[in-house]
Parts: sequence; C-alpha cells; structure tokens
Amino acid sequence: DSKSGGDGKQVLSMATNAEFPPYEYVEGEDVVGIDVDIAQAIADKLGMELKVDNMNFDSIIPAITSGKDAIGAAGMTVTDERKKNVDFTDSYATGVQVVIVREDSKITDVKDLTTKGADNTIGVQLGTTGDIYCTSDIQDKGFGKVQQFNKGADAVQALVSGKIDCVVIDNQPAKEFVKANKGLKILDTEYVTEDYAIAVAKDNTELKDKINGALNELKAEGTIQKILDKYIKA
Ligand code: ARG
Repeated sequence: DSKSGGDGKQVLSMATNAEFPPYEYVEGEDVVGIDVDIAQAIADKLGMELKVDNMNFDSIIPAITSGKDAIGAAGMTVTDERKKNVDFTDSYATGVQVVIVREDSKITDVKDLTTKGADNTIGVQLGTTGDIYCTSDIQDKGFGKVQQFNKGADAVQALVSGKIDCVVIDNQPAKEFVKANKGLKILDTEYVTEDYAIAVAKDNTELKDKINGALNELKAEGTIQKILDKYIKA
C-alpha cells in the first residue's frame, strides 16, 4: 500500500516467520536470510524501503489478505489452496519436504510413514505444506499422528528428546536443524518437491507485476543465485 518510509520512499512490508533458516532467522536483533536479501534486492530495484514483519507462519496469508503487509516472503510454497486467498509471483527457489529422524530410527523411507499400521508421531510446523501433506496422507488415513509445533526448531527438540518419531520439513532448514543437534539425520528419500514464491494480495496485480519484473532482472544478473549461494553451502 501507500505507507511512506522515513526517507519518503514507499514501504514494502514483508510478512515472514523467522524460524526457517537459512531463508529467514533471527540474528541478534535482526531478521536475516535468503528471503530478506531477495526482498531487499527487489525493494532496491523498485525504489522502496523494505520493512520486515515477523509473525507466526500461519498468520502470513491473513496479514496479506487484510492489507497489514504487502508481501509474504517465507520460503512459502505455491499451492492451489493458498492461491484461493493470495497470488504468487514467479518462483525464485525450490524446496523439498524431507524426513528428519534420530540416527537409530527404524524409519528409513517415506513409505514407513504412509503405510497402514505405521503408527508414527510426526512433528511439523503448523500450517506448512509438511503439516498439510502429513495430515492428509497419514493422520486422516489413520496411519499415524501429526503433532503441530509453532516453530520447526521445537518439533526438532521434541524429536531429540524422543517425544515424537520424526519431523517433516523443508530440506534447507532440515539441514540447519540437523547440524545444530546431535544424533539426527535426514532420510535419503524425498517426500514432495515444491516451488517457493512471494505471496501478494489478489487485487494487487500492479505490485505482483513489478516484483516479477524485478525478479527477472535479479535472476538474469545472477543476484538470486548469489544470494542462495551466500546462505546455502554445498
Ligand atoms: N515451504 C513450506 C510451506 O510453504 C514451509 C515454509 C515455512 N516458512 C517459514 N518461514 N517458517 O508451507
């Protein structure tokens, strides 16, 4: 919308959930990460001032539909269900839903979760695609139980302490969480591959088009790749 920043620039306010390293996380007092750098680069191209609004993941789409924030940038997967409420820009990255288990786990494949009698308790971050897929593929079919956490890191702590059997989450945060904890591993099997994009209000085609223009330039210039490489070490 038309809010003005300190130096007279239009504000581009970004709803996010900074519990998702390396896409967005808190460092000191700042929210940093891939999405922040990409949104900053877009704001620079559009001559706007980026403002980051940190909230729970499941509050991001409501923040956009209510007009509280102009965009949602949160490693957010494009889904048909979400498209009913918001529009998405072109995709700028891909993610994969993976399974984190304890090193000694009997779970070795996604099929060990999505099978009758499997009976695992699966931790997810509330409102994420991991939550949505596990709820419909596993819990709704009676194959196991889904436990929702506000933060991915809390799901991982529950896994470490043996309260749940695995965590389903995007591959890049999964890598960070496994690195930060002992005794965990990521299964060598992928659940779902998805596209990340920026969410914009349905009636804000003008902003969506401008962002797509900026994204195209940033892709062509190699800036998006540079930002991804800065945070994702091979
Ligand atoms: N890609 C998943 C989704 O869109 C998870 C995103 C979680 N992002 C976050 N900032 N917590 O549902």
